[in-house]
Amino acid sequence: MKMEYSDKVMEHFMNPRNRGSIENPDACATEGSPACGDQVKVFLNINPETLIIEDVKFQSYGCASNIATGSIITEMAKGKTLEEAKKIDWKEAAQALDGLPPIKMHCSVLAVDTLRSAIKNYELEHNLAEKEEFSKKVILEELEKIIYPQVGKNLVELKMVKYVGFEDGVAIIDLYIPEFDAYRDNIAEEVKEHLERYPEIKDIKITM
Ligand code: FES
Repeated sequence: MKMEYSDKVMEHFMNPRNRGSIENPDACATEGSPACGDQVKVFLNINPETLIIEDVKFQSYGCASNIATGSIITEMAKGKTLEEAKKIDWKEAAQALDGLPPIKMHCSVLAVDTLRSAIKNYELEHNLAEKEEFSKKVILEELEKIIYPQVGKNLVELKMVKYVGFEDGVAIIDLYIPEFDAYRDNIAEEVKEHLERYPEIKDIKITM
């Protein structure tokens, strides 16, 4: 498949902003994409009075869009309050790069997710947020991070999720993916990988 990157993606890939690390950061997080195995690390320095992100850096262990999205989200987050930065979403980040190929949309999800995790880590450490109780809402949020590669949209917005349940440690997910769909098995595998990292989930049952 021919991959078309916008000039802006190429420019951020060639000259990434805020690349590197922060020594003794106020918060950091590393996340990996179950779709491809790539990783991103985000470091934050936060003003404790104003809760403004004063410095942000990222390290990428991944593809060109991983670098470009890391670059753009750090640019977008710098100078924002934690509340504002939490609202940056992956579509906005992709738009700020003049778009990404559908198969690369998950790179933007990964970058935004890592930024949000770093913010969450700061909030938890400073008692600004409470650890969320596990419920099927968390499962649904994970499904929203899984991008169907051919169209670059997530499973929930594509109405591929028919049912989500969580009972006695068992996550039950009913997906609508036709048998002839080439990505069927990959998607099921990705759902598993997203959910496996939650210790609250003891078993995962996927029906399609
Ligand atoms: Fe997975 Fe870019 S982060 S291919």
